[in-house]
Amino acid sequence: MSDEIKSKNITWHHADITREDREKENGHRAVVLWFTGLSGSGKSTLAHAVENALFEAGCRTYVLDGDNIRHGLNKNLGFSPEDREENIRRIGEVAKLFTEAGVIALTAFISPYRADRDKARAAAGEGNFYEIYVKCDLDVCEQRDVKGLYQKARAGLIPEFTGISAPYEEPLKAELVVDTAKLSLEESAKAVLDLLRKNGVIA
Ligand code: ADX
Repeated sequence: MSDEIKSKNITWHHADITREDREKENGHRAVVLWFTGLSGSGKSTLAHAVENALFEAGCRTYVLDGDNIRHGLNKNLGFSPEDREENIRRIGEVAKLFTEAGVIALTAFISPYRADRDKARAAAGEGNFYEIYVKCDLDVCEQRDVKGLYQKARAGLIPEFTGISAPYEEPLKAELVVDTAKLSLEESAKAVLDLLRKNGVIA
């Protein structure tokens, strides 16, 4: 899809209450925590564990999850490269809106293409975007097969399945790499929270 704005005669309206006002009120910075990795790598589980800890600490948070968003906002998208690109473009924009509302947005999408993740990074703005690579070997994801999809993909029942018949481009400049085959959920969540403290996102 073209990046061009289709609408004409539109003007930007600036809000009186700024993102900085909201961040000050909330007592933390508003950023995007972008979890990327194979299906079954543990993105959603980790994103929710981090959200639970942040929420406990009084932060404003929201998790955007691939499977859920594909039931609503992105129900008209499939898994072709073009549809995945549009999926990630929309989520990049939605995540940015959440940060403008002062919220820490946690996104859990495979987001297999580097270029699409980089666009989401650009939308949020450098310094507001933390790419967290939820690394997990394909054979471990396949053994877990929480949703039974790998088995179906191997049997040829799901076309363009990431890791089997569609690519996953590993991040080259992730702010954090978490290997969920080696770390416990608590250790993985702690690594994310430490990153946020180190960068002054949370106190
Ligand atoms: S993405 O590639 O566009 O980022 P997204 O995270 O929204 O994908 O959705 C991935 C989820 O959709 C998987 O966890 C899995 O449950 C389901 N799914 C269904 N078909 C596929 C497929 N062909 N490839 C990957 N995931 C699929």
